[in-house]
Amino acid sequence: MNEGTVFSEKIPTHLAIIMDGNGRWAKQRGLPRTEGHRVGMEKIREIMDICQKKGIKVLTLYAFSKQNWNRPKREVNFLMKKFENYLDTEVDTLMEKRVNFRVIGRVKELPFNLRKKIKKVMDKTKNNRDFFLNLAINYGGQEEIVDAVKIISRLVKESKVSPRKIDVEFFKRYLYTPDLPYPDLLIRTGGEFRVSNFLLWQIAYTEFWVTKVFWPDFKEEHLEEALIDFAKRERRFGAIKEE
Ligand code: FPP
Repeated sequence: MNEGTVFSEKIPTHLAIIMDGNGRWAKQRGLPRTEGHRVGMEKIREIMDICQKKGIKVLTLYAFSKQNWNRPKREVNFLMKKFENYLDTEVDTLMEKRVNFRVIGRVKELPFNLRKKIKKVMDKTKNNRDFFLNLAINYGGQEEIVDAVKIISRLVKESKVSPRKIDVEFFKRYLYTPDLPYPDLLIRTGGEFRVSNFLLWQIAYTEFWVTKVFWPDFKEEHLEEALIDFAKRERRFGAIKEE
């Protein structure tokens, strides 16, 4: 199905994806886990293009969680190098496609070279407005909330904010991407039904879609299946349907 189809008015503005199953995909083929990550990185390019074509505006991808540091050192180092490699090879395409690129997560804890490249690409793409790509690296949803609490506590301590002013609307201003809408749809590949500490605050009313397909095998047809399902859902945001 192409853009401009019957459900185009129900396309999510913000799509979030938990890209799971790289390791299992590789194992099935008798390959090292890192090979799954290599193919997984290629997938990002392909899926971002399809999202742009379909009118999605924001794509947030879970690439490395706070908990992923517990993996074998070789795999962690491979992923860190892959992130650097992604930034080197994609920056021109991101500019060409007017993509605003951001890394969300505790960037300060990442290796120096990677941090430097992240900053360079974020600075370079910061005025792009056609599409927003957020890559979650060293990310944790609980950590994001704690980071917001720390900033707000400091403001309270310095008497710059009264605790009476703190409500949901105020709080969201201190999250990593305060200017972007929350995800409308969250896709998880690899078949597990959990959120794994991803965007905990932002997914309060997000629709979920899980597929058994491993991330390296995820294709346009699977995304379309998710979008068709999303278009049929009735989102009430906690309210009831009008009589
Ligand atoms: C989950 O699969 C995937 C990850 C932890 C890493 C995600 C990384 C990529 C898609 C590629 C690199 C990305 C960039 C931007 C360069 P898993 O390893 O947990 O798979 P498993 O559940 O089958 O073990």
